[in-house]
Amino acid sequence: MVENTTRPLRSRAWFHNSDNIDMTALYLERYLNYGLSLDELRGGKPIIGIAQTGSDLSPCNRHHLVLAERIREGIREAGGIAMEFPVHPIQETGKRPTAGLDRNLAYLGLVELLFGYPLDGVVLTTGCDKTTPALLMAAATVNMPAISLSVGPMLNGNYKGQRTGSGTIVWKARELLATGEIDEVGFIKLVASSAPSTGYCNTMGTASTMNSLAEALGMSLPGSAAIPAPYRDRQEAAYLTGKRIVEMVAEDLKPSDIMTKDAFLNAIAVNSAIGGSTNAPIHLAAIARHVGVELPIDEWQHHGHKIPLLVNLQPAGEYLGEDYYRAGGVPAVVSELMKQGLIAEGAMTVNGRTMGDNCRNAVIEDEEVIRPFERPLLADAGFLVLHGNLFDSALMKTSVISAEFRERYLSDPNDPEAFEGPVVVFDGPEDYHHRIDDPATGIDDTTILVMRGAGPIGYPGAAEVVNMRPPAELIKQGIHALPCLGDGRQSGTSGSPSILNASPEAAAGGNLALLVSGDRVRIDLRQGRVDLLLPDGELAERRAAFDAAGGYAYPGSQTPWQEIQRAVVGQMETGAILEGAEKYQRVAQVHGVPRDNH
Ligand code: FES
Ligand code: MG
Repeated sequence: MVENTTRPLRSRAWFHNSDNIDMTALYLERYLNYGLSLDELRGGKPIIGIAQTGSDLSPCNRHHLVLAERIREGIREAGGIAMEFPVHPIQETGKRPTAGLDRNLAYLGLVELLFGYPLDGVVLTTGCDKTTPALLMAAATVNMPAISLSVGPMLNGNYKGQRTGSGTIVWKARELLATGEIDEVGFIKLVASSAPSTGYCNTMGTASTMNSLAEALGMSLPGSAAIPAPYRDRQEAAYLTGKRIVEMVAEDLKPSDIMTKDAFLNAIAVNSAIGGSTNAPIHLAAIARHVGVELPIDEWQHHGHKIPLLVNLQPAGEYLGEDYYRAGGVPAVVSELMKQGLIAEGAMTVNGRTMGDNCRNAVIEDEEVIRPFERPLLADAGFLVLHGNLFDSALMKTSVISAEFRERYLSDPNDPEAFEGPVVVFDGPEDYHHRIDDPATGIDDTTILVMRGAGPIGYPGAAEVVNMRPPAELIKQGIHALPCLGDGRQSGTSGSPSILNASPEAAAGGNLALLVSGDRVRIDLRQGRVDLLLPDGELAERRAAFDAAGGYAYPGSQTPWQEIQRAVVGQMETGAILEGAEKYQRVAQVHGVPRDNH
C-alpha cells in the first residue's frame, strides 16, 4: 500500500472528522450498509472513484462495465477503496437530436459528483466521442488526481474481404444506395459489418482521436489508448490504471500538473499526425479553458498544419484500429515526432514520467500503418484555420481532400489554392434531405453547399451534418464531393474536406445567416480566407434588414436542458463550453470540500 505522507486525504472530511462526530457517523453508516468495514473507510486508504460511462444506452462504452472489475482489482491491490458511480451516458449514434448536447451535461454532473462526494482520486472511463472530453473537462475543473482509461476500438470490420470502418462505410453506403447499387437490406448489412465487437469506432473518428489525444496530453498510461476493446491487453491496462491512480493520490499528481500548454501543443501535433477528427479542436479548447490554459484556435494552424500525416487509418487512409495498435499506437507516433523536435518532451504524464521518457524508445512495428516521418502519407496534414467575412473562424481538414476534389477545385495553375462558386443554402439537415435531389436547386459541379442552423445554439448542440453528399445525378456522373461549408460539425469518420465549425453560427448572428442561394463565395486556402463576394455596402444592408427582421429563426427548445444550454453555451471556436463555468478552476484546492449536508 502506498502511504500518503504529503497531506490528508480529502475523504477524511467525511469519514474521519472527530470534531463533528454526528456527521461522521451519518456519512459512515450508509457506506457501511452494503458491506464495507470501518477499517476500510477509516484506515487511511484513499477512496477512488470509477466514473462509469458504460451502460446499455451507450454501447461504445459498455465494455467499461467489464473493465471496471479489473480497475477495482488494481485499486484494491495498491491499497485503495473503489467506489464506482454512473456518469450521464453519451452515445454518439443513439442520442437525438445530437450527443453534442450532452457533453456539457455530463461535464456538469461529474463536477458535482467529484466535488461533492468522499473521493480522493478518479478513474475516468472514456470512449465514445464526447465521453472523453466531458470527463477530462470535469477532472480539469475539480483538479483532483485523475487518470483516463480508454475502452478501446472495436475489432476491424470486414465485408467480403474488404476492411469496413465505422462511420466511413456509412458515407460510402449512402452513395451506393443513392445510385441504386444496393438496397435497404444491403445497406444495413454493409454498415453493420463495420461493428463486429464491443468497443468504439475502429476508424480514426472522434473516439480514436480523443483517446489518442488523452494519451498525448499525458492523461492515460502510455500505449493504452489504442488497445482494441476485446483484447486481453485492455483488461491488463484497466488493472494497471487502477493501481496507478492510488499512487497518483499519494503523489498528489493532478490534472493541472499534466495538462499544461506543452501538453496541449503535443496533442495538436499528434492530432495532425494521426489524421484526427475536426471535433478535436472544439474539445481541446474546452478542456484547456477548464484547466486554465490559453489555446487560441490559430494554434491549430501555427503548430499543427505543417505536420505530416503518419497514421494510415480510415477515413484519411486505409487501415483500422487493430492495425493501429499493432503498429505501435500513440507512443510510436510521438516517438516519430520527437525525433523531429515536434514534441515537448518534458511534459508530465500520469505515470509520473515525462512524455519524452515514455516514448523515446517506442518503435513503429508496421511502417505501412504508421509511416516514418521521412515517408509520410501526406505533407502539411494539419487543419487549416480559415477566416473571412462569413465567420471569425472555421476549420478545414486537408488530409481528406481526394485526388478528384483536388483536380476539380485546386488545379488552376494560376491560382492553385483558390476557387469560387455559387452557393446553395440549406437551413438544417431536414431542408437538405428534402431538396438535395430536387433539380430545382440548380446544383451543378461548381456549387458550394452551405449548411446553417447546425451550431451549438441553432441545432442545439452542434450536429454533424456539414458533410453533404452531392445530388444522386452528380454522383452518377462521377462527382463524389462538392465543397461544403457550414456552422455545424462533421463526423470524424467522414472523408469530406468540408469547411466547418464556423463560428459564430447563424443562430448567434454570424454572417452565414445573411447568405442567399446564388451568392458567390470565394475560398482561398493559401490566404486562409472564405469570403462572400458582394458589392460594397451590400453586406451591411443585409445585416440591417436581418436584424430588423429579428435574426435567424431556429426550432424552439424541446427539453429544459436544451433551453438552459442554449442560454449559456459559447461558440465552437472557444470550445462550446458553458460560458461562466471556466471561472471555477482547481475547485478541490480552492474550496477543499463542500459544507456538510445536514
Ligand atoms: Fe461511439 Fe463512434 S459512435 S465511438
Ligand atoms: Mg459523430
